This record gives sequence, structure tokens and C-alpha cells, in this order.
Amino acid sequence: MTNGRYGEPIPNLTADELTRFAAGRNAFIKLETVNTGLGPVFNEPFCSDCHDSPPAIGGTNQRFETRFGRRAPDGGFDTLTSVGGPLLHDHAIGTVDGGYTFVPEVVPSEANVVTSRRTQPVFGLGLVDATPAAVFAALAQAQALSTPEAAGRTAMVTDLSTGQPAVGKFGWKAADATLLVFSGDAALNEIGITSPQFPNEVCPQGDCTALAFNPEPGMNDPGGQDVARFTDFMRFLGPPPAPQLVGAVVQGSKVFEAVGCAVCHVPTLVTGPNSDLAFDQVAYHPYSDFLLHDMGTLGDGIDQGDARGSEMRTQPLWGLSFQGRLLHDGRATTVSEAIAAHDGQGAAARDAFATLDAADRAALLAFLAAL
Ligand code: HEC
Ligand code: HEC
Repeated sequence: MTNGRYGEPIPNLTADELTRFAAGRNAFIKLETVNTGLGPVFNEPFCSDCHDSPPAIGGTNQRFETRFGRRAPDGGFDTLTSVGGPLLHDHAIGTVDGGYTFVPEVVPSEANVVTSRRTQPVFGLGLVDATPAAVFAALAQAQALSTPEAAGRTAMVTDLSTGQPAVGKFGWKAADATLLVFSGDAALNEIGITSPQFPNEVCPQGDCTALAFNPEPGMNDPGGQDVARFTDFMRFLGPPPAPQLVGAVVQGSKVFEAVGCAVCHVPTLVTGPNSDLAFDQVAYHPYSDFLLHDMGTLGDGIDQGDARGSEMRTQPLWGLSFQGRLLHDGRATTVSEAIAAHDGQGAAARDAFATLDAADRAALLAFLAAL
């Protein structure tokens, strides 16, 4: 794969695909208003309000949002939908015709698990979308044989566009199977835009009677065109440039393998056979297996999709140098802190990192800084 720059489309797109990429980008940065269906409760009015630069549209400005739920003594997890869960909407459209006022949601008192989630960048995710489920299943199988203590598993979810079981790849908990589903999910849950796969407005704080005052009660994106455009932008958006393997970075990439980071942060994946040349057996470098791993105390406590509370998807490390905060809740500001927070299946690699001599540690950090 050629080494493009952040924000550029992937190579080998047709003229038609380049047009769709441009239209998709316009939709991704387009402000929604009350008249176009914003809210009634929402987080921000457009995708790039969070998926902003640096270093280009599609990155992340590190905006956090809040998820919550209730863990019962018997281990069961309640998403608290009836009181506004599982995602907090921290904005609302305010007073509407007729005098009703929509207000931002708050975390209800019933919640006993509350977590922050950091906005993830979306560069290169079209390649992940174009990688067959069998690739991820094979990775999980190989890990179970060679490194059982760190072995992940595929998240099995329902692909809402087909109704069929599928491997979840996207989000901190790998709860969404495709970019198309994620786009519809984000349009509804971040912005308040309903579309064919997500036809029902979010009930503000769980109170569905409030929707009687929704100024735009019809389906906001009836043909799903905007959802398709968001998907096109992300599908065709190129990955972060691969690191230049020179000097200490070369040694660091070897240390990365030696201490076990690469078991989960898999350097290279390959898309499946595809009639579209741009996606046909393309090698790319996400530094992730997109599998769920039991991360022990680093887990966020939330059950979501197929993921249990302690399970998280391996966060890709491509584009790492542009992350101002690290880990799902941004608890780390340096790479060393992020590694130290690895627990559960990541504990062995964490401990191996802690015992590295100064030269190997410096090399590993130089490698990570090049991502
Ligand atoms: C209010 C901020 C915000 C807005 C607006 C927003 N997102 Fe996100 N996005 C996030 C956060 C936070 C996550 C992590 C979600 C999670 O798993 O909890 C995320 C994750 C994603 C991912 C998954 C990335 C990965 O690595 O798997 C995709 C794809 C995505 N967003 C697309 C979109 C699209 C398309 C829109 C517009 C329709 C959008 N987002 C609007 C905050 C936002
Ligand atoms: C068992 C699988 C596993 C191993 C081994 C592992 N990681 Fe991770 N890593 C993860 C998961 C899962 C996350 C996401 C955790 C979260 O925040 O929920 C992550 C997150 C990270 C992050 C934060 C990325 C970001 O953008 O927030 C960094 C940096 C990182 N890992 C580096 C390393 C390094 C370096 C090693 C080797 C010392 C390593 N990891 C070993 C699974 C693993």
C-alpha cells in the first residue's frame, strides 16, 4: 500500500469513488440543525465536531462522552434504557414551538457503572471493513494456540443491515460489524438523525412521551443518503502513513514483537479478494487484531454488544502520535502510562516492558512515536 498523507483517499479509487469520497466528506462536516432533524437530545451536531483534526478531518479532538449502566449483584448488566441509558446525551435542542423544553441528559442515580469514552480516529477503517470475518477468526485461533494467556476472541454481533450474525470490529467494544451500521448508529446516537436502520429517536432521559414534542418527528434521513455518505467518506479515507522503519525505530519494532505487544497490536492485515481494485488484497498496518481481550482492571465495566465489562477491543496504534490522551477513558497521557495500565491478558506484556533495559525501552518508545 502506498504511503499517502492523512486525510487523503486510499489509492486506486475510480473517478466515481473519488466523487463519493468528496460528497461523503461534505456530509461528515455538515452541521445538522433542528430543521434537518438534530436531537431532540444529542452530543454534537455533526461528525467532525468530534472526528476533527489533528491531523485531518477524520481524526479525533479527544472529545469524551459518557456511558453508564447498572451491574446487579448476580453479575447481570442493565443498560438503564428506561432512564436514558446506555449513552448520555449532553446536549438538547432546548425550547420548541408549544413551549416544551428539551434538556441535556444526566447520569441517573440508578447507575453504578459510569465510564468515559474517548473519540476514536476513523482513518483507514474502510480496509478493516473490507477484511473478511475469517481473518479475525483465524487470528483468534492462532492466539489461542501460541499465546493462550493473551488470546482474544471475535465479538459476535448482529449486522443490522443484513440481520445476520457478523464479527464486530468497530468501537471500543467492537459492538458494530460494519462502517454502514456504525454510521447509522452514530447519526442517531450522537446527532439524533433517524434513518431506515435506526428509525426510532432516542427517548430523552428514557422518557418516550417527550417525543410528542419532537419538532421533526418524521424520519430525518429517509433514504439513508446521509448515512451512505458518512460511510463513503470513511470507507475511502486513507490509513495513517506507515512508520518509516529506520534507525532506533527498526530495533523498537523488534522489541515490540519480543515483549508480546504484537500479539494483539498486529502490525499487518490484508483485505479479502475484492472486485474493487482499491480493496483487493491490500496489506495495511493497523497494529490491531480488532479482537476483544479481557483487560482486567483496564476494562470499563460496561457490557456492550458481545463484550463483557472487562473486555475491550485492541485499539489500533496507527496514528498513535496524534493522540493527546490514551486509552478508552483517556486516563493516560503518555505511552508508558498507557502500557502500565494494561492488565488481564495484557499483564504479561506490561511486565515485560517494565523489565526492559534502557536501550530497548528507548527503542520501543521511538518506534511507538513513529506511528
Ligand atoms: C460527540 C462526539 C462524536 C460525534 C458527533 C461522532 N462521534 Fe464517532 N465516535 C465518538 C466516540 C466517543 C467514539 C467511541 C465510541 C465507543 O465505542 O464508545 C466514536 C467512534 C466512532 C467510530 C469507530 C472507530 C473505530 O476505531 O472503530 C466510527 C466509525 C465513528 N465514530 C463514526 C462517526 C460518524 C460517521 C459520525 C457522524 C454521523 C460520528 N462518528 C459522530 C464520538 C463522536
Ligand atoms: C492482550 C492484548 C494486548 C497486548 C498484549 C497489548 N495491548 Fe495495548 N491495548 C490493548 C487493548 C485492548 C487496548 C485498549 C484498552 C482500552 O483503553 O480500553 C490497548 C491500548 C493500547 C494503547 C493506547 C492506544 C490509544 O490510542 O489509546 C497503547 C499505547 C498500547 N496499547 C500499547 C501497547 C504496547 C506498547 C504493548 C506491549 C508492551 C501492548 N499495548 C500490549 C491490548 C493489548
